Amino acid sequence: RIAYVNGLYVPHADAVVHVEDRGYQFADGVYEVCEVRGGHMVDERRHMERLVRSLDAIHIAMPMSLAALGFVLRETIRRNRVRNGFVYLQITRGVARRDHYFPVPEVPPSIVVTARAADPAKGEAVAAQGIAVITVPDNRWERVDIKTTGLLPNVLAKEAAKQAGAREAWFVDASGHVTEGGSTNAWIVTGEGRLVTRPAESGILRGITRTVMLEVAQKLQLRVEERAFTVAEALAAREAFVTSATNFATPVVRIDGQAIGDGTPGPVARALRENYHKSAE
Ligand code: PDD
Repeated sequence: RIAYVNGLYVPHADAVVHVEDRGYQFADGVYEVCEVRGGHMVDERRHMERLVRSLDAIHIAMPMSLAALGFVLRETIRRNRVRNGFVYLQITRGVARRDHYFPVPEVPPSIVVTARAADPAKGEAVAAQGIAVITVPDNRWERVDIKTTGLLPNVLAKEAAKQAGAREAWFVDASGHVTEGGSTNAWIVTGEGRLVTRPAESGILRGITRTVMLEVAQKLQLRVEERAFTVAEALAAREAFVTSATNFATPVVRIDGQAIGDGTPGPVARALRENYHKSAE
């Protein structure tokens, strides 16, 4: 395997950044995960737009042109011969003696890109079975709209899910409403057949997959409500599912040990999953 690190393509085993990288010391950086399908990035443009927004939010200047970055992403995919899988991009504020203030003078941001193959059949098998989720208090900061590498609450929540025999944790805000998953956006289908997902304006990352699924839902003429929903509403829902670049739409069949609907993947989640790649760019 090959990784891109600050201008060089190096063997993955030797791909390192300095111990004083601010990503390492402060999680002072942002990232993107993009699906690779048939050798091509899915929704590259939207991922790049979100990257620019994340960098802007934490005041890191775009270190290279989007065209150059696109080339690096494609080249990393090509050098790893990835047909189906994922490409990971991380940009941190760079290497400087540890000090909370931004480095003066500015240092070049650190850019890392990795790509790996993933067997689509594995994801299909998971989706066919459906996943279990647990709910946990949302103890994250207010800027979860920034795709930062500061993911400790997400790591702890997802590990708690794993220990409980579940695959994802749904964060719940102080008013009892689900915000999102540790690495996914959260959705339900109500008893009336309405698709519900939280508005992107507060408490969640604006998932690219979420945006695409809203378009898919429209094409399928599903009724959509962008609003917050409670855990109680989710438990009583006909269906639940999660979306992300790595999950597409994956059905949720249990929440906190309680079956959702009849406890098997539902038709709406299945339809969205099946139609997703027709709408993704
Ligand atoms: N996670 N919410 C959170 C907290 C996420 O970390 C992610 C993505 C999403 C879904 O976003 P998108 O549809 O753009 O993938 C929502 C990536 C896949 C990860 O951290 O691995």
